[in-house]
Amino acid sequence: CRPPGRPRLSQVRLSSTGAAAQRAPGGEEADSKVGTRKKTFPEVQAERLEQAQRTVLINCPAKISEKKFLKYLSHHGKINSHYFYESYGTYAVVEFSEKDSIASLQDVTRTPGVEEECAVPFKSRLFTLTLKNPSTQAADQAPVHCHKQSTILVSDLVQKLCSADSVSNQLYTLMDEYQLTEENTKLRFLVCSLIQEIACAYFPECTVKPFGSSVNTFGKLGCDLDMFLDLDEIGRSPTRAKTGPFYMEYQMKRVPSQRIASQRILSVIGDCIDNFGPGCVGVQKILNARCPLVRFSHQPTGFQCDLTTNNRVAMRSSELLYIYGSLDSRVRALVFSVRCWARVHGITSTIPGPWITNFSLTMMALFFLQKRTPPIIPTLDQLKDLADAEDKHVVEGHDCTFASNLNKIKPTENTETLDVLLSDFFEYFGNFAFKKNSINIRKGKEQNKPEPSPLYIQNPFEQALNISKNVNQSQLDRFVALARECAWILQQEDKDNSSLSNSQPWGLAALLLPSVASNCVKGKKRKRVQASERIKSLLDSLKINNANSLVNNGGK
Ligand code: CTP
Ligand code: MG
Repeated sequence: CRPPGRPRLSQVRLSSTGAAAQRAPGGEEADSKVGTRKKTFPEVQAERLEQAQRTVLINCPAKISEKKFLKYLSHHGKINSHYFYESYGTYAVVEFSEKDSIASLQDVTRTPGVEEECAVPFKSRLFTLTLKNPSTQAADQAPVHCHKQSTILVSDLVQKLCSADSVSNQLYTLMDEYQLTEENTKLRFLVCSLIQEIACAYFPECTVKPFGSSVNTFGKLGCDLDMFLDLDEIGRSPTRAKTGPFYMEYQMKRVPSQRIASQRILSVIGDCIDNFGPGCVGVQKILNARCPLVRFSHQPTGFQCDLTTNNRVAMRSSELLYIYGSLDSRVRALVFSVRCWARVHGITSTIPGPWITNFSLTMMALFFLQKRTPPIIPTLDQLKDLADAEDKHVVEGHDCTFASNLNKIKPTENTETLDVLLSDFFEYFGNFAFKKNSINIRKGKEQNKPEPSPLYIQNPFEQALNISKNVNQSQLDRFVALARECAWILQQEDKDNSSLSNSQPWGLAALLLPSVASNCVKGKKRKRVQASERIKSLLDSLKINNANSLVNNGGK
């Protein structure tokens, strides 16, 4: 399925970024601009959280008249947007233009009359809509159009990639297929806002915000939903009055540490989610983790949710990744492809363990892009140098300062294509001195490892921490072996463009085949074969030269 006339790597290397240059950074977020300025991460968050508060989620029959449905709901106010999706039934996400519309809708909504069970009377923005006369109302109705909420199968992806016209465009195709859609992003903010309503019963001023891959521009359809219960507004005291003879302060329960406070809060909120949260199932309290959390599934959306609190550093690292992902379209395309490649070959896993995580892989890709000449993205220290007074953030003694305003960051002059970057990424990490060096995106330079973990990626903010401390030697070895194999495959293709059969997956598609991993095991054998083939051809050429010289010397 190789298209004819695909340029070789060496040719591509000299051309301009092409598709990369044309693509708007930030994918579906590309329209997020204030005038000519791109929105900052906090601006995007605030806007989407507000939008989510005007939104409801309705379980409805698949066969429903969309027109009648919208007419019925618009009795409660103007509808800004809506869409349908499927997850254990059909759901509609409806965004009203005013928050008051929701109260109006709730006023006419009944509590369910369940016969043998008892409903816990917690009213939320999650509803069920049924037809009064299903047999007549649904009979001639076609099912509503549902938006996709998951990625295509890898086998279908491989096929799709084969019809791209360059490795570069294969990476963009993969990103287009995998990235979060506008609808899915809205749904993630909606779930945060539904959980916020539960937490508000105890902490009326709290907010629940998404972080991690849901918002850092590297999220794939189906990724987990990391949520941050933000209680800082409550803790923020007004400045002490200078006049008057008294001070007033709240009496509050005291606990020995912030960690214990977080554990207690999450424990209670976890119980509330478990007992009252509509659609929330499988609630687990994982309070002894380094960062205590409550994990649950939100059934109506299918999201696996991790709720944490007192996790402001992670919020900053999400913003940092958002900045990197928005700066240059090649960043996201490379990260999506590397993450997909790693998942396909079992380098990353959904189960916690000694595997490399997506977050670590992202850091590795960012580091690699900082090391290009000229660099494609700035180092964290350079972003810190661009920071204003309002960008200053120190969280529990950790300096998390960097410029939030994307427009302050000068675009790179690097014009390398993704064809080159993908191949060089594998080459670079296939030969990285992991034994000696650590990866550090703050400096954009390898540094000596401070301790002997097999893979050491310095946490950019909590600088004494290694974000890949969990990775064991054999997992790192697998990564290195696969990276070498993939660098080899891409270089072979580049050298030998015409000899590959047209029916074979090529470029990125070839790297996603299961055979890549099995060839890795045979890697050593291949090197031996290559060496013996080289010696054989050397001998052959010597024989020919010898024969020629015999002829030239008249057979003497
Ligand atoms: N995080 C961190 N240090 C770690 C692990 C995670 O600071 N050792 C922060 C990062 O901001 C990360 C977020 O927590 O983005 C969420 O972690 P996780 O869900 O593991 O990673 P994601 O980036 O969300 O990627 P995935 O799509 O795999 O969920
Ligand atoms: Mg996550």
